[in-house]
Amino acid sequence: MPQFNETDLTAAVVRSFEETPDPRVKFLLEELVKSLHDFVRKTDLSFDEWSYAIDFLTKVGQKCTPTRQEFILLSDVLGISMLVDAVNHREREGATQTTVLGPFYVGEHKPTPHGTDISAILPGERMFVQSRVTDLAGKPLAGVPVDIWHADDDGYYDSQRPSYETEGPSMRARFITDADGRFFFRTIVPRSYPIPIDGPVGQMILNVRRHPNRPAHIHFLVDAKGYEPLVTHVFFDGDKYLDTDAVFGVKDELIAKIEKRTDAVMPDGKPASGPWHLMTYEFRVRPGQGVAPKPMMAVTEDA
Ligand code: BEZ
Ligand code: FE
Repeated sequence: MPQFNETDLTAAVVRSFEETPDPRVKFLLEELVKSLHDFVRKTDLSFDEWSYAIDFLTKVGQKCTPTRQEFILLSDVLGISMLVDAVNHREREGATQTTVLGPFYVGEHKPTPHGTDISAILPGERMFVQSRVTDLAGKPLAGVPVDIWHADDDGYYDSQRPSYETEGPSMRARFITDADGRFFFRTIVPRSYPIPIDGPVGQMILNVRRHPNRPAHIHFLVDAKGYEPLVTHVFFDGDKYLDTDAVFGVKDELIAKIEKRTDAVMPDGKPASGPWHLMTYEFRVRPGQGVAPKPMMAVTEDA
């Protein structure tokens, strides 16, 4: 009968994966066990703590539904989502920086005409967003689908409101870049918002005296053929949560200055109904392959 001491035990579990057919799976399991065993040794983990952790992870699993992914939220607040993003995007070569997808992407929409107000019936400060997609050399890319989505003036996504079922999407759309790689639209200025705090992950955040907020942002998913899909956000300069984003998703290069305007017409020559904000941001994509991420939530709009 083998008698394992603290370190022999780790070696024995690692050996137990010897016959794993897939070398990558074998490697991942070995490294996971080594890291977890190191954690237990380093912390002298007590039975109570181990049992608390099991109970916590059970609650995280129980909170998951087809439209709620509490494990991804856990990964987000522990910085793992951004770390996975970082190790997979080490080479940027001038391409726009990436950040997390988040849980509020619902998939593609019908292409929307440029200039559309995607928040027309919603209260909030009006904003004109103008943007362009180029390659690394600055050459405009035409015909590129760009999905955008953002929160409202109270910090809620449409899909978090009961009216979503009956009224359908708002503050989200798909634009196709024109011959100059441009797209533009009207909307409202989104607000910062808390990540969902009605589950075990939110409770954990509050228990450790962290705040749950994300700085205001607009999500962009740029999916040009022959280029790496770009999943990113644009944040707004001056937001009080830029340095303490609950999911560690902010990068300096993704912060845009929003200009306050009082001009009577907007950049597309159409009249403004009062003061407005102008956001200008360009995206550079990197040649490559890849499949744009799928949404966690089902699409409810007619495709
Ligand atoms: C979001 O930006 O939509 C988001 C990202 C991570 C966790 C929660 C929300
Ligand atoms: Fe978001």
